[in-house]
Amino acid sequence: MNRRRKLYDGKAKTLYEGPEPGTLIQHFKDDATAFNGKRHEIFDGKGVLNNRISEFIFTRLNQLGIPTHFLRRLNMREQLIREVEIIPLEVVVRNVAAGSIVKRLGLESGTRLPRSIIEFYYKDDQLGDPMVSEEHITAFGWATPQELDDIMTLAVRVNDFLTGLFAGVGIQLVDFKIECGRQYEGDMMRIVVADEISPDSCRLWDIKTSQKLDKDVFREQIGNLVEAYREVAQRLGILTETDNALTTGPRLVKSD
Ligand code: TMP
Repeated sequence: MNRRRKLYDGKAKTLYEGPEPGTLIQHFKDDATAFNGKRHEIFDGKGVLNNRISEFIFTRLNQLGIPTHFLRRLNMREQLIREVEIIPLEVVVRNVAAGSIVKRLGLESGTRLPRSIIEFYYKDDQLGDPMVSEEHITAFGWATPQELDDIMTLAVRVNDFLTGLFAGVGIQLVDFKIECGRQYEGDMMRIVVADEISPDSCRLWDIKTSQKLDKDVFREQIGNLVEAYREVAQRLGILTETDNALTTGPRLVKSD
């Protein structure tokens, strides 16, 4: 059995020590949580889908020269990543009003925002990830002004890429969240995109019908989460018919 050292057990992913120094293994679980962990359910196949979708997106970001922690997918649920020092911020980019901004500012859900808006949330479960400003971030030293500039540049580039990617398959990118980390190489440090990008961390609406194809299906209990995620994967051309069978029903013991 698996005797790898577990380094971090999160709500939807587990991190293990990697095969070489400076690497980690990121394992995608089937768990979904919402409202800061108050609601928790397990969806058979979600981890497999998010592993594949996130691999697809991070591979393309790397190809475009947008640096990420992603190295390669290892098997159905795991990927090899570079070890980075996670910056304790959730960086949200919004194109269309939905979710918390609707409540906070009294907007109508679905309204296009005057321009893309970047928001920061301090990653702290006990505090419920409060929204913070650039002033808080630099004053408390969570990131330097230069790092914050790099983070915002990355966020805008990721938004441009994802908006086009999803529009090409009939999906509107409403908003998304990324996390960033510091990658050290010798004396050099650079900010890279870390964590995952998947329907857990994006709002994705069908362009024609506005049907939700993301974690809001679970948050709002309005349908079948795995079906929605599979639809995203299929539109992106990730899942073949065989793969499709693997995310449901009996599991193969072999991993790939
Ligand atoms: P919000 O509207 O709830 O603030 O969410 C904005 C975006 O961030 C949305 O795409 C969902 C994503 N998100 C996460 O990935 N993790 C979280 O914990 C929260 C609250 C939102």
